[in-house]
Amino acid sequence: MDRLRALLADTGAQVRESVRLAELTTLRVGGPATVVTCATRDSLAATVRALDAAGIPLLLIAGGSNLLISDDGFDGVVVQVATERVEIGADGVLAEAGANWDTVVAATVAAGLGGLECLSGIPGSAGATPVQNVGAYGVEVAHLLRRVRLLDRASGEIRWAEPEELGFGYRTGVLKHSDKAVVLAVDFALDPSGASAPLAYRELAVALDAAEGSTRPAAEVRQAVLRLRAGKGMVLDPADHDTWSAGSFFTNPVVPRSRVDEVRAAIAAHVGDVTIPVYPAPEGVKFSAGWLIERAGFAKGFPGAEAPARLSTKHTLALTNRGTATAADLIALARAVRDGVADRFGITLEPEPVTVGVTL
Ligand code: EPU
Repeated sequence: MDRLRALLADTGAQVRESVRLAELTTLRVGGPATVVTCATRDSLAATVRALDAAGIPLLLIAGGSNLLISDDGFDGVVVQVATERVEIGADGVLAEAGANWDTVVAATVAAGLGGLECLSGIPGSAGATPVQNVGAYGVEVAHLLRRVRLLDRASGEIRWAEPEELGFGYRTGVLKHSDKAVVLAVDFALDPSGASAPLAYRELAVALDAAEGSTRPAAEVRQAVLRLRAGKGMVLDPADHDTWSAGSFFTNPVVPRSRVDEVRAAIAAHVGDVTIPVYPAPEGVKFSAGWLIERAGFAKGFPGAEAPARLSTKHTLALTNRGTATAADLIALARAVRDGVADRFGITLEPEPVTVGVTL
């Protein structure tokens, strides 16, 4: 530990030992680790460079909303990104990686800038949004991103990256499954007229009594999105265990065209002739994971009131910690759900959160 403190002496980072990582994640699970907190961009870059040069494994945590960490913690150093500056411009916003995402969205809407309102109420940090191309209600981060400030860990260099370099797809991008770069800041281009992005999600358009494809003032859309999300337990509330989650635990599966008929037949064999919610996707058809989970026999609240890890009582796609769940409990629940859906419908759901020290 003295060695670590000496290594980081000039970085401005604060070192704490034996921190329960459960305190840093929205699922509230995760064992102990040494945590190094960086409050400025310079401190963050210097810390990552120093740890990399010393060959010490590191795990970055900012909002902690997309992480499932082992009960054994992390055998290395956790770098907590606590850089929080947000600069609103005439036609956009520049946010440091550790800025609370919803604070950023709220500030843009309050400043009369449109574009991010559909991404209201999403837990986590600004810097995490380009990592997996966060999206909701028909808008993805990739649509609005102007550039991302990256620290290249191999060279130690800092530069702006264009969205085209980041390989965005549905809930994915080159930053997600790679340790090569650290996001330091994000820059979004927004609409100074204050109009929302076109309303592309039916449920949201209906809630606003608006035509799909039309726009509304961003502030109105933000309020509607917050209401919809809260109704699904997707807005953090310490008093509501339905929100002790990592949001959607599985991505919505994209089934290649060649397998769509087979999957539809498997669903019909189990649940009869029902309308199956599907969405167009580049290489096939996107099915709804929440719908499949429910139809596979995993109701909201599964497996019941006694279990420490349960499906949310408001949305089957969120795995939740009722207060005493361990990572092992959540993994067991995730496996039961994944395997049940695979057995019945022939679709293997993929987890959305990043797992640390545990695998499904
Ligand atoms: N459904 C059920 N049972 C449930 C929940 C949903 O049958 O318990 C059905 C609904 O009836 C609907 C369909 O599933 O037909 C889709 O549900 P919803 O509109 O809630 O959206 P989702 O596909 O489950 C996705 C994102 C969310 C995002 C919403 C709104 C993924 C994995 N999830 O959820 O993102 O907020 O759309 O755009 O793409 C996240 O990524 O963490 C997240 C919360």
